[in-house]
Amino acid sequence: MADKPTKGLADVVAASTALSDIDGQAGRLFYRGYDIHDLAGRTTFEETAHLLQHGSLPTRRQLADYGAELVRGRALGALAEANIPEIAGKQAPMEALRTLVSLASGDDPDKDSNSPEANLRKAARLTAQQPILVARYHAARTGAEIPEPDPELSVAANFLLQITGRVPDPHAVEIFDTCLVLHADHTMNASTFAARVCAATLSDMHSAIVAAIGTLKGPLHGGANEQVMRTLEALDPGSVAQSVRDRLAAHEKIMGFGHRVYKTEDPRATHLRRMSRELAEASGDDTYYRMSKEMEEVVFETKGLYPNVDFYAATVYHYLGIPTDLFTPVFSVSRMSGWTAHVIEQHADNRLIRPDSEYVGERDQKWKPIDER
Ligand code: CMC
Repeated sequence: MADKPTKGLADVVAASTALSDIDGQAGRLFYRGYDIHDLAGRTTFEETAHLLQHGSLPTRRQLADYGAELVRGRALGALAEANIPEIAGKQAPMEALRTLVSLASGDDPDKDSNSPEANLRKAARLTAQQPILVARYHAARTGAEIPEPDPELSVAANFLLQITGRVPDPHAVEIFDTCLVLHADHTMNASTFAARVCAATLSDMHSAIVAAIGTLKGPLHGGANEQVMRTLEALDPGSVAQSVRDRLAAHEKIMGFGHRVYKTEDPRATHLRRMSRELAEASGDDTYYRMSKEMEEVVFETKGLYPNVDFYAATVYHYLGIPTDLFTPVFSVSRMSGWTAHVIEQHADNRLIRPDSEYVGERDQKWKPIDER
């Protein structure tokens, strides 16, 4: 008989990866051996995506080539392009992205190849297109005129330009770029695992990414950042502590807290808290930041839980002028770099992922014809 399963696969090592590593006791995160504290604020999202997908921080020459590939990759194909208006009217943002990435596979010249070269090209196109898809979706549903992607702008700057319609200030770009770096990869999180399971059947990269997007959408995973903002909006600033205590007493989960792996502060939250404070101060209204701090204190006092990446990301995105229902899509814009790198890694050394299960149903049932049941 098989061993008793670990519920939720906690502590089960499901794959080998050279992409990222977490020390949950010490609260440390590494991308290919680089400490996230060394990367955040010093390395751009483009450099980080190159690190994950190509295996090294780029030289200036490599960065210029990769940056040019990303700019070329921003062009949407005819299938995705033609369907954005109808999808924008019918599907919520994460549903729309799931559909649009699936359609984009029909536009991709490498769709039928899982070769390492084709995978790298698809990884760059998917990384380039995800922010464009979010911006085009948003423009289609609001009827707004959207600026064309600016080839001179980074992924972060171009996204803020297209979402807000304004040329973003350099500090906002720096902060958003750091957010993208912080969300790029995170070992065997649920969406990455889903992508790897799909890729391990030797299915294609777009299919794996569609699985990942569907998985990221859930509120226990990437969907938490949107829920954090909805919680802040629903709370009365004068009674945050009591409301949070009441919710915890009623065994409600407070979104943006707790983590399967970190037993101390999530190192990404340290940067996001600081950036939230900076933006709050610059905005002249720090209400949501102060409410967040109060929530953090009460949740820690009551449950001993720390904020995760999604908690302060919510107010950072809010202060940057990003609509609340696009917070999880923003997560996908960044995580696309990690997901695609994991698909490349899975295909490079593949074995079907097919775990066992513990059977808990009836046994030795006696079959009866339909009229005797
Ligand atoms: N609020 C209140 N209680 C919590 C929370 C929370 N946010 N998180 C965990 N707990 C409690 C939980 O109720 C349980 O208590 P008890 O043992 O008394 O039943 C205990 O802590 C263990 O929780 P769990 O849900 O079994 O832990 P897990 O490792 O399966 O789940 C988690 C990890 C992140 C899903 C969970 O902490 C959670 O639901 N957090 C809220 C959603 C969230 O913020 N998700 C984002 C995760 S991090 C980034 C990402 O992936 O996007």
